[in-house]
Amino acid sequence: MSNVTITNHPLIEHKLSILRDVNTNPTIFRQLVSELGALLCYEATRDLPIKPVEVQTPLTTMTAYEMQESIALIPILRAGLGMVEGIWALIPNAHVFHIGFYRNEQTLEPVEYYNKLPKNHPFNTCLILDPMLATGGSAIATTDIIKRWGAKKIKFVGLIGAPEGIRALQEVHPDVDIHLAAIDDHLNEKGYIVPGLGDAGDRQFGTV
Ligand code: PRP
Ligand code: URA
Repeated sequence: MSNVTITNHPLIEHKLSILRDVNTNPTIFRQLVSELGALLCYEATRDLPIKPVEVQTPLTTMTAYEMQESIALIPILRAGLGMVEGIWALIPNAHVFHIGFYRNEQTLEPVEYYNKLPKNHPFNTCLILDPMLATGGSAIATTDIIKRWGAKKIKFVGLIGAPEGIRALQEVHPDVDIHLAAIDDHLNEKGYIVPGLGDAGDRQFGTV
């Protein structure tokens, strides 16, 4: 089974509580999604390979370390977009490739509408970004696509997960590590995470 890492830290708890608040406006909501993405990314990238490099400091030379490979950030449109900025600021040499899914409101099945993965140029390590892991359908379908593309090491970085979605992703893709800020109680009959924060895409882009 894949690992589930819940990063609980006072900053994350604080920002998450504002994010959940129904009265938080889209401007603050977007800022928080970006900041929380960066805080979670710190933990999610802990095991990235590094390689030694010789560095000339103002005083001497030394062996320092830099990332061994460039990685791909794969935000799931729309809500995953908000997590890109904060993470990209931490990893400026990452590449960003977008995948678009929306959920069919009746079946809750993910429907693909956009894919900008470069042909024949897979990245070994990919972080899938999406604030919400609800039924898990969007994360599973995105992982399917990225694996077919050739990615070997895939992590899902989200903000809130439902137990149902975590289990589903673990069952289908046990090799994908899951990084979240919180696991909530359950999904309601419409597939929303409870207590959750509502629709993460609508709340970022003011389309409620
Ligand atoms: C939301 C969210 C995830 C998906 C999670 O997207 O951003 O992509 O639902 O649900 P799942 O785990 O059940 O697949 P939504 O369909 O609302 O599209 P949006 O991001 O464009 O608002
Ligand atoms: N997608 C969201 O944006 N929120 C949920 O609670 C479930 C799916």
